[in-house]
Amino acid sequence: MQKANGFEGKRVVILGGSSGIGLAVAQQAASQGASVVIVSSSAERVQKAVESLGGAAQGQAIDVSDERAVAAFFSELGEFDHLVFSAGDSLRLNDLASTDLQQARHAFELRYWSALAAVKYGSPHIRKGGSIVLTTGIAGQRPRKGWVLAASVCGTIEALTRALAVELAPIRVNAVSPGLVRTNLWQNMDAAEREQLFESVGNRLPVGRVGEADDIAQAYLFLMQEGFSTGQTVVIDGGTVLV
Ligand SMILES: NC(=O)c1ccc[n+]([C@@H]2O[C@H](COP(=O)([O-])OP(=O)(O)OC[C@H]3O[C@@H](n4cnc5c(N)ncnc54)[C@H](OP(=O)(O)O)[C@@H]3O)[C@@H](O)[C@H]2O)c1
Repeated sequence: MQKANGFEGKRVVILGGSSGIGLAVAQQAASQGASVVIVSSSAERVQKAVESLGGAAQGQAIDVSDERAVAAFFSELGEFDHLVFSAGDSLRLNDLASTDLQQARHAFELRYWSALAAVKYGSPHIRKGGSIVLTTGIAGQRPRKGWVLAASVCGTIEALTRALAVELAPIRVNAVSPGLVRTNLWQNMDAAEREQLFESVGNRLPVGRVGEADDIAQAYLFLMQEGFSTGQTVVIDGGTVLV
């Protein structure tokens, strides 16, 4: 059984690890002794993140929506212990009436199809006792007006997590469902508008603030380390579902 006091000797692969939640997972796992491998689509951002992680970190630039590139990456990587999928891009949030349904399909590209490809090609290389942690979001349980697509993707990932836990057992498969988190995901918004969003949402939440990447990363570490949960979605949302 993996000890709860660290990741010594463990290898953790994080797709979407150059920024935000994925980078925070990489930092926390590395600080507990893991060797981490991070992947994102930008060579520059990967390099910067690897430098910030120091020592035992490696990185590779791959567009994870390219199935062949994902397959090639895992075939060359060798064995590892834990797979984290946290790649995500900014979603266009619209009400249904003004949603272009052809464009809307794109919302599933990275978050669903790329996650599925990562699991398909990555899981055969996971060592005994290892796990997979996917990423969903609280919109699946607590949708707001205009969040039809985001909520659909999140619900899909939760169902996928349960199905994979059955299919891939004894590899454990879980997901983390964050509420609103202050990361680069929101960088396509005007800075003042973004701060206003964080403040107004934070003020409405029972915890009085929006999340930070470090808050959310702790849930991934928990799910990787403990050995008895599978098929679960852990909600870290500051109480979003309550209000
Ligand atoms: N932040 C929130 O409020 C929030 C709330 C609920 C759920 N989530 C979910 O949490 C996950 C992580 O988001 P975050 O907030 O940490 O965002 P983030 O800081 O923007 O991180 C996203 C990561 O995904 C990578 N990525 C994007 N497109 C990629 C591609 N095609 N191939 C490979 N890597 C790619 C990015 O790197 P490159 O740009 O270099 O490729 C980056 O490392 C996402 O699935 C998001 O939907 C976030």
